[in-house]
Amino acid sequence: MHKPRSWTASLIALIWLATVAGVASAGPQKSLYERLGGYDAVAAVVDDFLGRMIADKQLGRFFAGLGDDRKHRARQVTVDFVCEATGGPCYYTGRDMKTTHKGMGITAADWNLAVGHLKATLAKFKVPAQEQKEVLDLIGGLRDQVVDQAP
Ligand code: HEM
Repeated sequence: MHKPRSWTASLIALIWLATVAGVASAGPQKSLYERLGGYDAVAAVVDDFLGRMIADKQLGRFFAGLGDDRKHRARQVTVDFVCEATGGPCYYTGRDMKTTHKGMGITAADWNLAVGHLKATLAKFKVPAQEQKEVLDLIGGLRDQVVDQAP
């Protein structure tokens, strides 16, 4: 004899299976590092950002007098820092942000300029809005460790 309830049960089971399969095929969320495009993309973003800071009339003073080797090292550990912080396979071996920047006299105004440069870099590389937000949140969280002087 035909049981209408068994149709309902089958339909529910089908919907449940489709949902589970859908969730499974979506997989885990990719890391920010992967979504940015991996190592080369992170390195390109850091290079562009540092280049803008060094060329800036107000921020350039922090880098004046640093030899090429010092700049190369700072660039490399910054790539490692961002790579690790975004979930990449790198291991940051530099100093912590407070120790590194303490005593440089970086002001809130300097910081705002730097954030402006970072936004310009992310726009230049056409980083999608969601990833831009995540990068800006990540870097924004470092503000109090980098800024050591009232404006
Ligand atoms: C107004 C903003 C900033 C200024 C003016 C600034 C300036 C500098 C300078 C001049 C150095 C070179 C120190 C040296 O080798 O003697 C340095 C090192 C470094 N900065 Fe910044 N910085 C700023 C923001 C940031 C941010 C947002 C990050 C995070 C991505 C960062 C990460 C680093 C790292 C990883 C180093 C190297 C640490 C080490 O030597 O162990 N900086 N910074």
